[in-house]
Amino acid sequence: MRKVYIYKGFERFWHWTQAALILFLAVTGFEVHGSFEIFGFEKAVQFHRVASWMLIGLIVFAIFWHITTGEWKQYIPTTKKLKEQLVYYVSGIFKGEKHPTAKTELSKLNPLQRMVYLSFKLILIPMTIISGIFYMLYKTIDQNNLVVVEDYPLESIAFWHTLGAILLMVFLIVHVYMTTTGETPTSNIKAMLTGYEDLEDEHTENEPLKNTH
Ligand code: HEM
Repeated sequence: MRKVYIYKGFERFWHWTQAALILFLAVTGFEVHGSFEIFGFEKAVQFHRVASWMLIGLIVFAIFWHITTGEWKQYIPTTKKLKEQLVYYVSGIFKGEKHPTAKTELSKLNPLQRMVYLSFKLILIPMTIISGIFYMLYKTIDQNNLVVVEDYPLESIAFWHTLGAILLMVFLIVHVYMTTTGETPTSNIKAMLTGYEDLEDEHTENEPLKNTH
């Protein structure tokens, strides 16, 4: 085993800030939805809007970081070992089998993670943000308290936004479970906190995926 610096400073900042913002947006959003009461409706609306601008700002920086560092290549989907990875999560993991793909600094994600994270970035997050922006515009009011933008049905915007929110919560639960399936239950979380992870030496039987850089 060797200690490898796998998650850079910005990457860790972006990961945890995004997680915190999404959780806060879920709490305030579901309060707006009427699921429970914590801050009170008006405050929940206000907090939800401020946090949503913070998330948009963070994502702009994250896109810039992924492009300029070339880290976006980590998410290029592949079918190589995809089946093995699926079989591992469904059965191998419970029999103590080895991970079918090895993690390296140049290929941090297994084929299943690549597919799921790519869909998260290209479908789920944009769907939630775009419907959220439409929601915001819909509710734009002028000085006379009149709704300015009302050209599209609020029901469909609310549907896509709420669906995005529910799927994000499903993702979060599955994601947190998956983080415990590394070398030890806490090794993945520790790596995202400190940046360092103990990885197996290369040239072992469970080959890494082809380097993407
Ligand atoms: C940048 C992203 C986002 C924007 C611009 C946004 C915007 C909005 C707006 C404008 C509303 C209507 C309430 C209001 O007037 O403030 C709303 C409601 C809501 N938001 Fe967001 N939001 C975003 C992200 C999220 C996220 C990440 C979640 C959950 C994980 C979420 C969950 C909800 C829920 C559940 C509602 C209530 C929907 C309903 O009952 O119709 N939002 N959002």
